[in-house]
Amino acid sequence: MRALVIGGAGYIGSVVSKHLLEAGHRVTVADDMSKGHDWAVPDDAEFRAVDVRDQEALAEVVAEGFDAVLHFAALSLVGESVTEPVRYFKTNVGGSLNLLDAMRAGGCRRLVFSSTAAVYGEPEAIPIPESAPTRPTNPYGASKIAVDMAIGYEAAASGLGAVSLRYFNVAGASGRQGELHDPETHLIPSVLKVALGEGDAVRIFGTDYPTPDGTAIRDYIHVDDLARAHLLALEATVEPGHRIFNLGNGTGFSVREVVDTARLVTGCQIPAVESPRRPGDPPVLVASSDRIRAELGWVPQKPALEDMVSDAWQWMRVHGRAAALQD
Ligand code: UFG
Repeated sequence: MRALVIGGAGYIGSVVSKHLLEAGHRVTVADDMSKGHDWAVPDDAEFRAVDVRDQEALAEVVAEGFDAVLHFAALSLVGESVTEPVRYFKTNVGGSLNLLDAMRAGGCRRLVFSSTAAVYGEPEAIPIPESAPTRPTNPYGASKIAVDMAIGYEAAASGLGAVSLRYFNVAGASGRQGELHDPETHLIPSVLKVALGEGDAVRIFGTDYPTPDGTAIRDYIHVDDLARAHLLALEATVEPGHRIFNLGNGTGFSVREVVDTARLVTGCQIPAVESPRRPGDPPVLVASSDRIRAELGWVPQKPALEDMVSDAWQWMRVHGRAAALQD
């Protein structure tokens, strides 16, 4: 299959691109490089520089003729979305609408979309099924549910075959590809940076949540398991219509548990400082992944938090510094 991976120079998009190539697909990465990295784009992928907000440029790339599009390009920081909501809507919603237009015009009928657990807001029940009400507590989640809705209507109208994957917290690394953001706000890389000596202490955002140790709970999923789910989702897009799947392991870990795991994996002390809650953060997000297991046969191979932290740690030590210097 000839696949267009939009946002394929970023953390998750680059790992999925690698998996697609390994499975024998042809891959073209499209990215505006605002968050992406040259080193992350797999050698065997073609590359197009394009910003999803540029309707004409995006349509030109899509018109090259692809069997399917995997759309990762988005702004994805909860805290930033609270202070810059319009920018989030312009890129995430505007860019995705441009893509849907371009796909209809270019006759491309298969789409895998990166959605998020943030669409659920503060869930009524844990683990969260796909049928849970979507009441995002921040503009990031709101922008993604808007796109999920647009995809649903477009699929009904045009016969598009689409899958939205609602990621929980993605972690770990895959060979040369790993997580590097500037600035880094995600928990696991932030903790590991302290272990590497970059920063004095990790901040624990919120110690008064209604959870056993008072810190927020998240469901972490290994980026390789996430990538495998994308390949299954891609197969499922052969059917017209829009399907939605949560992607997590079904187990929650608190911020303190993540810090403790990182201490164990790295052998470093990793000082932690208790700080106020971060705006927009829900207390607990844990997935029910029953649907993707039952319908697409997805089985996570690396569900242990220790493996995710350990892979991220290995990547940071072997590739992290060199990658940061290349940027
Ligand atoms: N946290 C800290 N200290 C830090 C960084 C994070 O205590 O230095 C806390 C956060 O407050 C949160 C948890 O660790 O409670 C996880 O935070 P991340 O920033 O790693 O991840 P988020 O849960 O905020 O967001 C991630 C993705 C989103 C996605 C969400 C879905 O970045 O795109 O998971 O669960 F929507």
